[in-house]
Amino acid sequence: MKREDIDRLLAEVRDLKCKSQKEVEAARVRLLGKKGEITALFEEFRTVAPELKKEFGRPLNELKQAAQARIDELKDSVVEEASDGPVNDLSMPGEPFVLGSRHPVSIVRQEIVDIFRKFGYDVAEGPEIEDDYHVFEALNFPPNHPARDMQDTFFVSAGHLNPILLRTHTSSVQVRSMETMDLPIRVICPGRVFRNEAISARAHCIFHQVEGLYIDENVTFADLKQAILLFAREMFGPDTQIRMRPSYFPFTEPSAEVDVSCNICHGKGCNICKGTGWLEILGCGMVDPNVLEASGIDSKKYSGFAFGMGLERIAMLKWRVNDLRHYFENDMRFLHEFETATEV
Ligand code: PHE
Repeated sequence: MKREDIDRLLAEVRDLKCKSQKEVEAARVRLLGKKGEITALFEEFRTVAPELKKEFGRPLNELKQAAQARIDELKDSVVEEASDGPVNDLSMPGEPFVLGSRHPVSIVRQEIVDIFRKFGYDVAEGPEIEDDYHVFEALNFPPNHPARDMQDTFFVSAGHLNPILLRTHTSSVQVRSMETMDLPIRVICPGRVFRNEAISARAHCIFHQVEGLYIDENVTFADLKQAILLFAREMFGPDTQIRMRPSYFPFTEPSAEVDVSCNICHGKGCNICKGTGWLEILGCGMVDPNVLEASGIDSKKYSGFAFGMGLERIAMLKWRVNDLRHYFENDMRFLHEFETATEV
């Protein structure tokens, strides 16, 4: 055993530098590992003559401690540097991940809301679980009136004076608007509605509506017609024509149903418009004076119009969806078809 070997290793240990944890570990193995240089010196020490043990013992122990201390220090302090080797190929395409897209009903609702916002309407929302008063009574459906059968209702708690139910139309939000808003009122009410109907390609127990209400002095049927015409042209294109057919709703008088010219065959007649050239899109009318009075609005001074449309139906016409159930089944093959529509 030579003293120089110990001193050389000690100098090396004090000066030890590493660029990565990998290098620290390699240095530890080289010096202190089972076959390491310092370990080898200890092996050799066993054969040293007893009278020389003292001379080598202490520096050897010092060397071992210094090496251990330096390695520990490096383990704590060395920060990984980026290796110069080709770790990542930055030109490789990234992992594709699937982004969701907006539901067709949301797309149509947003389009309708945007159009009426431009016309100066505010958006109002209300509860889906409503009372009989706001869904029927205040809208001129007297108790036991046969018109209630037009909208089959899910009752939450029936039997008492003002049953709790799932709203069958968002006209209830119009009532709430009349109760709380200052005149003149211009609101649209988008929302989900519920009717107790058997589910089929053409009917569902859940669907969505946007209803609108405009109340001011001297509002006439001509204003209603103009508002609907402007809306139809924004929604279905500038050449769109509308026609009104007399209809009945308890809360409007007179009432009408509105058709737009079929934007698929342009009036020639196709299977979507069933050969008529017209597509029914909404119901509307002049607000019945009884409805105004029920919400405390002077029907001698004020008049107004209301309209309501089903969003699934409009989306069906727009994208030629042939079965209402597609909207509720979350079938990705159906939903993916609307990815590009989102960008419109
Ligand atoms: N609330 C009616 C419905 O659900 C639609 C409507 C609204 C009709 C406003 C006229 C006026 O069918």
